[in-house]
Amino acid sequence: MRIGVLTSGGDCPGLNAVIRSVVHRAVVDHSDEVIGFHDGWKGLLEADYRKLDLDAVSGILARGGTILGSSRVQPAHLRDGVERARGHVQDLGLDAIIPIGGEGTLKAARLLSDAGLPIVGVPKTIDNDITATDVTFGFDTAVGVATDALDRLKTTAESHQRVLIVEVMGRHTGWIALHSGMAAGAHAILVPERPFDVAELARVVGERFEAGKKFAIVVVSEGAKPRPGTMDFTSGATDVYGHERFSGVANQLSVELEERLGKEARPVILGHVQRGGTPTAYDRVLATRFGWHAVEAVHGGRFGMMTALRGTDIVLVPLAEAVEELKTVPANRYIEAECVL
Ligand code: F6P
Repeated sequence: MRIGVLTSGGDCPGLNAVIRSVVHRAVVDHSDEVIGFHDGWKGLLEADYRKLDLDAVSGILARGGTILGSSRVQPAHLRDGVERARGHVQDLGLDAIIPIGGEGTLKAARLLSDAGLPIVGVPKTIDNDITATDVTFGFDTAVGVATDALDRLKTTAESHQRVLIVEVMGRHTGWIALHSGMAAGAHAILVPERPFDVAELARVVGERFEAGKKFAIVVVSEGAKPRPGTMDFTSGATDVYGHERFSGVANQLSVELEERLGKEARPVILGHVQRGGTPTAYDRVLATRFGWHAVEAVHGGRFGMMTALRGTDIVLVPLAEAVEELKTVPANRYIEAECVL
């Protein structure tokens, strides 16, 4: 068989582990040929690719980013490009395409699959917001980076009697904020699923200082918003891909908390550091298992499906199911964390 692989959307630790696993399983065990498209769907639309043999994937298991490059693509551009993509699949003699990506990539995968292209998807995102899989690789690494940062920030916050408002990634869902906040013992966690009341946040932080504590750490997802009417808030504009450009909720909250509490408050925006660097062992293993099962799915003719973790098993689920809705943080998780406002 001849298999094309690509990585699309925001990068994430573990992408290279999937690419390596696909090549190992396909080339070594099935004597397949694998090509990698450059920079996501763009590579497929422009037939920009290179051959991936064992040498090409040597030494990449622990490397962050993606050796193939990634990019975002506008949905309309892809819709217009379906026939071009079909033509390239035929010209290149491809039997299957394995796109590795998040929500946007999987929606695009479904579009091409519905158009009859042989697709098996692999989910990735540090945000962990894909419903069909218990976990996505990249999430564990991002939570580890954020937790390490929070641990470090606690010591400097305490030295200076400050409130530190730490903004983590999480466009639509608060998984990174919840897990890193819980792991580091944050004093308040704000998530996109639950609009916050800044007066309540000020009360929680204020009571902590009144109780004699010298500092407070607030973790906020980049996509968190105040309850309407509770705070002046500037939302970001929308980019060409339809994504909100965040205007810095931590910046706005630090100004507001300083005014309300008379305590020094500083914003810390962790940003892309959460997406970079070497994947954790957990993410390498999950990514490797996804790659292995994606190749098996291709050989089983299970097109239109995506690999997913359910319990301890890797299963295949329809791409349609994967993109139905986002996996948001359920309310019982707020209660367990105790400090989600
Ligand atoms: O979807 C993953 C993610 O890391 C989000 O948490 C974040 O909002 C977005 O990607 C950032 O994307 P970009 O790299 O385009 O700024």
